[in-house]
Amino acid sequence: MIDFDPYKEDFMSGDRSIFTQLREEEPAYYSEKYNCWFFSRYEDVKAISTDYEHFSVEKGVTTSQLLLGEPTGAETFALMDLPRHKSHRSLIQPEYLRGKISEFEPRAKEFLIDFMAPLLDKGNFEVIHDLVLPASLRLVSSFIGLPDSLAKKVRDLLRIYWTRKPGQIGTTEEGSKAMVELISLIMQFIKRRRNAPKDGEKDHLSIWLDAEVEGRKYSDEEIANLVMTMIIGGSDTVPLTVSNTLLLLDKNPIFKKAVKEDPSLIPNAYSETIRYAHPNNMLGRTVIKDRKFYDKTLKVGDKVMMLFASALRDPRVFKKPDQYNIYRDISSAITFGIGIHKCVGEHLARLEGRVILENIFKNIPNYQVNYDGIKYLYSEFVKGHSAVPIFFNN
Ligand code: HEM
Repeated sequence: MIDFDPYKEDFMSGDRSIFTQLREEEPAYYSEKYNCWFFSRYEDVKAISTDYEHFSVEKGVTTSQLLLGEPTGAETFALMDLPRHKSHRSLIQPEYLRGKISEFEPRAKEFLIDFMAPLLDKGNFEVIHDLVLPASLRLVSSFIGLPDSLAKKVRDLLRIYWTRKPGQIGTTEEGSKAMVELISLIMQFIKRRRNAPKDGEKDHLSIWLDAEVEGRKYSDEEIANLVMTMIIGGSDTVPLTVSNTLLLLDKNPIFKKAVKEDPSLIPNAYSETIRYAHPNNMLGRTVIKDRKFYDKTLKVGDKVMMLFASALRDPRVFKKPDQYNIYRDISSAITFGIGIHKCVGEHLARLEGRVILENIFKNIPNYQVNYDGIKYLYSEFVKGHSAVPIFFNN
């Protein structure tokens, strides 16, 4: 009998060994405690993600929303089903298309190099908080239209919001307070922008403030939640995956040497990291029409969690899935999701990851990880580290 609870100490502390058992023995695992089905196989995750007739995002997609019933806040496209999802997402989607993102590359390089230059003289730094998180937040904030000073404040408050103490289930009291302060700062900024619109370049705020969708304008609350959707999506995952790439390459010296000699391997190495060490353990849906899976019936109102991190290690799809291999063909990987909710920021994430890693291999190819300083995240939702320090001689 499998006893799976994502809030149990071992899972929160990063032990994912239960995924193999779930995939092989109970691919549709039901937890009465959460009234939730956990799906761990690749094909099932793909099927649920693209089945809009039976599954909905409207009651939430995160563990906190679906398993603990934390509120979702004002509606955003990420929590809308068809047909509404399309008209709301398409307001900003064009900014994130592959072609548009490649036009942005020179500016992205400038931003990222700005963050990196002072670190290179130090001989050591911590990859997530000194480099990738501030750089990613600055990038996504510039897309949204938030000034750098506010982006920095957002970063500090988000850090408090994400921190979980051992034994803590869901958001801490300090975390909830930080989120309230964050939303209020963003709301104040939205009010200022409403009263003094910005000329020229169209950032997301100008688009959302001008937009009329379904016959009405967005409220300040809705815009604040849209800002948070982009900030959370855009600032959490890239630091986890870039730091993991540096760590995994350091642990696999043959691959590290190969990347040093041929930086064109970086994009595939980064993609393989996202498969091997996916930053989202799970994302969910709610059943809106009964659906049979294997010999089980999922009933209207049941919750469903798709274990992305397990699906991407499914041996039915990936050969030797538990091995990190930068040469792997990962074209079939659903690392950024699949279907209408597929990650809007995929090309931006790939650009950021590549540019940061290219710069690290250009400037400090002999970096080494300080293993004593590594800190692991304590979370049911995201997987990775909260600190990955490196040191180097220039
Ligand atoms: C390595 C980096 C990233 C990974 C692995 C990742 C992963 C994902 C996944 C798996 C989904 C699908 C969610 C679902 O089906 O419920 C998703 C959606 C989303 N991601 Fe990302 N993401 C990354 C970076 C980003 C960035 C940089 C942004 C913002 C610029 C972003 C914003 C979003 C948004 C807004 C959605 C919701 C899309 C919708 O519902 O239409 N993500 N992401």
